[in-house]
Amino acid sequence: MLIRSEGSRESVIRSSEITPQHVFESFQRSRRQFLATGAALGAGALAAGRLSGLVQPSVAHAGSVTYTVPDPQTPLQKAATYNNFYEFGTDKDEPARYAKTLKTRPWAIAVEGLVKKPLTLDIDTLLKLRPLENRVYRHRCVEAWSMVIPWDGYSLSELINHCQPLPSAKYVQFLSLYDKKQMPQAPSGYDWPYSEGLRMDEAMNPLALLTFGFYGQTLQNQNGAPVRIILPWKYGFKSAKSIVKIIFTDKQPRTLWNEIASGEYGFYSNVNPKVDHPRWSQAHERRIDGSLFPHTIPTLMFNGYADQVAGMYAGMNLAKYY
Ligand code: MTE
Repeated sequence: MLIRSEGSRESVIRSSEITPQHVFESFQRSRRQFLATGAALGAGALAAGRLSGLVQPSVAHAGSVTYTVPDPQTPLQKAATYNNFYEFGTDKDEPARYAKTLKTRPWAIAVEGLVKKPLTLDIDTLLKLRPLENRVYRHRCVEAWSMVIPWDGYSLSELINHCQPLPSAKYVQFLSLYDKKQMPQAPSGYDWPYSEGLRMDEAMNPLALLTFGFYGQTLQNQNGAPVRIILPWKYGFKSAKSIVKIIFTDKQPRTLWNEIASGEYGFYSNVNPKVDHPRWSQAHERRIDGSLFPHTIPTLMFNGYADQVAGMYAGMNLAKYY
């Protein structure tokens, strides 16, 4: 699991703030790297020929603030071939090879538990619920590597409001598809389906993204098609892929990794450079971007999103509630 970055070639990371789109764009225009990345992405998108997969153009939201970061983006080719999706194998290259068989239509999400009325949502209805926004987020894996990815979706809070949870709902659980026939590579010894959970205030935070696409195209299967969540201030494993069930509850829900190794993977799993994983440091990360040589950069508190999320954890001992 652990990827070690030997030596620190570069330790520069830009402002942790989320930058409005127009500021970001003028900043980026001057960057050689952006041009190189843009060319790569354009070629990737054309090659994939999947731009029509999204219902709305992913960046059509003039007037609203777009969430983004000034860091160079990870090329699509990397983001789509270096994955964790254990249902399709435990090696990083396996999801891209084996998830091709995942059937993403028809697809429904069951909404259960403490809601006014249980409901089932069809993926195409969900896609049309709100216009999709393009958000460039830092994506930090607990294994100490990271990417910068443009996702397409809308705030998870929009879906939650649509579900009408009861005031007694304190947590929300997300369950991924588990279909042995489609996922013969899923290792035994795991209590499938993949399960993750959030406190309600975390799920309602505007940064939490219900995600349908990336790089202006439909999510590739290995990245969690047809719908996943993205919580950019948390380690990547909180971002459950290929979701089929959402349960509102008054108790902290089970989570797959916490069950497997509770001393290593807590319920909160906020990115925190000061709280090491028992087997390795979380102070730095290997940034996977377009550069020829991988480089190591310091990890930021809450992955650089402290201004937006730190208030939710005020007064909590983050070494205890890791
Ligand atoms: N969701 C499911 N269903 N199965 C998984 O194995 N892996 C998690 C998360 N969501 C995982 C999952 C982990 S460990 C990470 S780091 C991210 O997905 C990886 O997302 P990416 O492959 O799009 O980078």
